[in-house]
Amino acid sequence: GTAAAPDPAAAPVGARGDVADRATAAFRTGYGEPPAGRWAAPGRVNLIGEHTDYNDGYVLPFALPLRTVVAAAPQPGTTWTVRSELAGEPVTFGVDQVTGAGRVPGWAGYVAGVVWALRAAGHPVPGARLAIASDVPLGAGLSSSAALEAAVLAALVDLGGLDLPADARPRLAQRAENEYVGAPTGIMDQSAVIRCRAGHALFLDCRTEAVDHIPFDLAADGLAVLVVDSRAPHRHADGEYAARRAACERAARVLGVPALRDVGVADLADALDRLPDDETRRRLRHVVTENQRVLDTVDLLRADRIREIGPLLTASHASMRDDFEITVPEVDTAVEAALAAGALGARMTGGGFGGCVLALVDAAAADSVAAAVATAYAARGFTAPAHFTALPTHGTT
Ligand code: ADP
Ligand code: GAL
Repeated sequence: GTAAAPDPAAAPVGARGDVADRATAAFRTGYGEPPAGRWAAPGRVNLIGEHTDYNDGYVLPFALPLRTVVAAAPQPGTTWTVRSELAGEPVTFGVDQVTGAGRVPGWAGYVAGVVWALRAAGHPVPGARLAIASDVPLGAGLSSSAALEAAVLAALVDLGGLDLPADARPRLAQRAENEYVGAPTGIMDQSAVIRCRAGHALFLDCRTEAVDHIPFDLAADGLAVLVVDSRAPHRHADGEYAARRAACERAARVLGVPALRDVGVADLADALDRLPDDETRRRLRHVVTENQRVLDTVDLLRADRIREIGPLLTASHASMRDDFEITVPEVDTAVEAALAAGALGARMTGGGFGGCVLALVDAAAADSVAAAVATAYAARGFTAPAHFTALPTHGTT
């Protein structure tokens, strides 16, 4: 996103107490009354399928146990007050600021964006007071912004008794991010945080929004997904993201297809020949091969061959590094160190230029792989990485 980050609380997850309790406490302290209810949405990692969503392609994210919780109650009229444990002062905005030319700035813009998108779709959004607590680290590529949008959306829909079916919610939350906050992201994050199911990865066709819940039972195979927060400062991430998107759209125009999803691996050699420059060719090659890697990963998971997806993850990373050019030294270091320490596969996850790396590991090796990454980081003088292991959990409740 483009909004300025509030100071993220430094304490590790868990040390601050249960996130739902914190949301309730923040509501009581802030507003002097109990909330009418609580709504929660998870962060996500993407197992594979990066920068494919806005190309109408395939993605395979799963929901994390880390959650954002919104405690909320109605407020008379059409004003909204929002506070976050991660930001100092509460922010109040009225309907004029939602619909007018000016935008609610900063983190509260994600909340105002949801109000805006609901109103734009014709829903009579009730005024509300909201208090937000979160265990999803901000700006780490784990979709704290989508979690915030989804939890706020669920709260406003329920408080207002609005009729908005679950499968229409991702698009609405995405509009908040694209058109109100102004970040030109695809449909993956909002779909993941709303539609994921526990124990499954979400196979999403971003053109049709058809989903298939693919069993992803890591524990049964003695496996774990290790998530390493690279702690790399986002370097020009927003501008570079937009530039990659523009390159893909350019390539689609030259090739005369609606989106790069329409180029398959069988057409790749021919398509590459028709593109004018090497950079555009590499961007195309990433998207086309990445879509195929998602399909291959889904096939392996369906065949109960989880261990064998490792090389696909690693190939995805190489493609992001060499062809799409969205990795940074910290994430490349984390991937290399994880693989050298025995990970079955590893890749950066999310939009790039920092964020998190995921590694598929034998559960018993998770600690030693994490330690190897920390050692490699120290040798290069990088800020120590944070890490956790994650099993797939469920979407917004
Ligand atoms: P990501 O979605 O990968 O975490 P983004 O930069 O897209 O990263 O979104 C992070 C932004 O979302 C933060 O800078 C902040 O503006 C907003 N945000 C997310 N969660 C919260 C929260 N719990 N409290 C306040 N702001 C939040
Ligand atoms: C994220 C973005 C997603 C997706 C991803 C890359 O930052 O929000 O829509 O494009 O990058 O796969």
